[in-house]
Amino acid sequence: MQISALPGAGAEITGVDVRQMTGPEFDRIRAAYAEHGVIFFRDQSLSEDDHIAFARRFGPININRFFQAHERYPEIALVLKEKEQKTNIGGGWHTDHSYDAEPAMGSVLVARQLPDEGGDTWFASMYTAYETLDAATKKEIAGLRAVHSAKHIFGSGNDNFYKANRDTDGRIGNTAAADVLDDVVHPVVITHPLSGTKALYVNPAFTVRIAGYSDEASNALLMRLYAHAMNPAHAHRFKWKPGSVAFWDNRSTWHWAMNDYHGERRLMHRITIEGCALN
Ligand SMILES: [Fe+2]
Repeated sequence: MQISALPGAGAEITGVDVRQMTGPEFDRIRAAYAEHGVIFFRDQSLSEDDHIAFARRFGPININRFFQAHERYPEIALVLKEKEQKTNIGGGWHTDHSYDAEPAMGSVLVARQLPDEGGDTWFASMYTAYETLDAATKKEIAGLRAVHSAKHIFGSGNDNFYKANRDTDGRIGNTAAADVLDDVVHPVVITHPLSGTKALYVNPAFTVRIAGYSDEASNALLMRLYAHAMNPAHAHRFKWKPGSVAFWDNRSTWHWAMNDYHGERRLMHRITIEGCALN
């Protein structure tokens, strides 16, 4: 088994069938996941049961509240865009579940049906985003906390993101659950629970403000941090192929699903693993 760091973010792992990881292989894969934030496998042939078994080795499965589930496997969320649909899921820089008090650790995404061209996913390293901030900004954000919310994305209001994009009906549901979710607060800089490395933990989708800041000061700081974190030099563009599997960490990466394949169907199976409170 070989682990190769990719330019920008993540690592590719070759020479392993993840259905049959030995104990030592599992330990190396988990260490690579903690270190690189996202790991990619090629040429795997995972059934739904294999996908679930792989994810379970890393932790308990989180059943998604908002995504359409696989009809026979509630553990598997469908990330789907049909031929005639225009809106995709995850089409902007974000990290999943930052709106939860204990954000999910990460997700294992398996490609099931791909467009001929397009549908790549970008991943950006929030370890690198933090590490490459200037010293004054690091000092400024040390100890700050930010408020995160799901309401404006998954909520039932007509101006909420997925509601406003009506062709997501059926793919995104349970909007009432988002309406009643309490907003949560996390540190702007976290110490990653697996690696002990510092990571920038704000994101353009779910972070709504810096706690204790005026709207103006909060927006100014967040825009500055986002502009820095979006640097393509901190990111890797992953090209999906049949048999590709991506396993990302929500605490140390952002991702962005490109929406450049209108007229073609794209179906991914996603399993999400429970996480923990962040400090
Ligand atoms: Fe996502």
